[in-house]
Amino acid sequence: MAENLPHQMLPRANHDELAGQQFVQAMKMHVSSKITVGNHKVYEHTARQAFEKKHGRPPNTRHEVRRLMEQQPYHQMWGSLMRLGQELMWDTVIESVDRQLEDLIARATPKHRLGSLDLDPTLHQPRYLAAVDQHGQPGSYYTDTCRDDVRAGAVLDRGASIYHFGAAGGAGMEGRGRTLVQFLWEKYPDLSPSAILDIGCSVGASTLPLARYFPDAEVHAIDTAAPLLRYAHGRAEALGVRVRYAQQNGENLNFEDESLDLVVSLVVLHETSTKALPKIMSECYRVLRPGGVVAHLEVPVRYADMPNLMEQVLRDWQTYYNDEPFWGRVCETDMVAALAQAGFAKVYEGYQKQTLDPRRDGEGFTTVPDSRPGRWYVATGTKA
Ligand SMILES: C[S@@+](CC[C@H](N)C(=O)[O-])C[C@H]1O[C@@H](n2cnc3c(N)ncnc32)[C@H](O)[C@@H]1O
Repeated sequence: MAENLPHQMLPRANHDELAGQQFVQAMKMHVSSKITVGNHKVYEHTARQAFEKKHGRPPNTRHEVRRLMEQQPYHQMWGSLMRLGQELMWDTVIESVDRQLEDLIARATPKHRLGSLDLDPTLHQPRYLAAVDQHGQPGSYYTDTCRDDVRAGAVLDRGASIYHFGAAGGAGMEGRGRTLVQFLWEKYPDLSPSAILDIGCSVGASTLPLARYFPDAEVHAIDTAAPLLRYAHGRAEALGVRVRYAQQNGENLNFEDESLDLVVSLVVLHETSTKALPKIMSECYRVLRPGGVVAHLEVPVRYADMPNLMEQVLRDWQTYYNDEPFWGRVCETDMVAALAQAGFAKVYEGYQKQTLDPRRDGEGFTTVPDSRPGRWYVATGTKA
């Protein structure tokens, strides 16, 4: 089965691997579209009534609802299927990546370089990244399994196509980045940055739209994880986009004061910590020139904006069972206050409708209507 890949770095799947990956995708889609919804019924018709009978009041926090639901066999089955789908996803992708790892490493070392790659072997992973395998990916983002390793990046890039059901902008995964560009164009129509920094760039899926849609800017992208950065560099080169990648910690950036015009992060803050989040915001402020803009795009929904406590519990599954321990906390963090605390003015938060590419992509992952709201949360501010 031939695959029409969106870029040359993406791991290729042979017939059996593709069949396995498509099975996992279908299974995850079935769980999220058909089984998740049953949790609401179990809560309304069984769990809540039992709680009210016992306590004389309805549950009034998401934690009470979660503890209640954790006793319900339906919810236990749902959670097990969610976790199983996640583990199967990594298993099928890892097997395929390992088969072709040598070739991927060779492809990630381009002969003609547009951009650059600056690794720092002395950089220590922050504890919030080292302590868990983020979203269950074995070895997480940063583990090197061999010299010049790109394994974590290849696994993440291929796995993400399955995870998002193609709804994050097809296998190119550019939906988040394009959404942020759209937001910036609408909110700051005069913004014309000369230097951009993407903090926590991972494999660069969101960095590339920034580089494409702000073509006059020099684009920097940092992450703490070397295997992601090596892969991201090869990926950007394969796609003909110039990006300067560097291994740095967003809490302690290696950029001069007031040297950048736009600093962004996309779905990064929810993987940090209570202590790291304000440090990252302060660093963004330090490196921005006066008039510069910061924008953090985050996981789709704030708890305060969710229609009910059960919906909060379903999202909070990530915190407790998908190795994203800061997810719940970030959904209740006052980002506006955090930005203001860091010194930013004209602080704003809101939702931006996801800018999707509706094309069917080339590898059989179809863009489908997603049960999650098609919008992202964005918090932004300017340096006066
Ligand atoms: C979910 S991924 C981000 C994906 C990427 N921004 C995108 O939109 O495709 C989170 C990334 O943030 C990185 N990260 C987390 N904390 C960081 C920090 N303090 N400094 C730099 N990178 C960090 C992780 O290594 C990981 O690659």
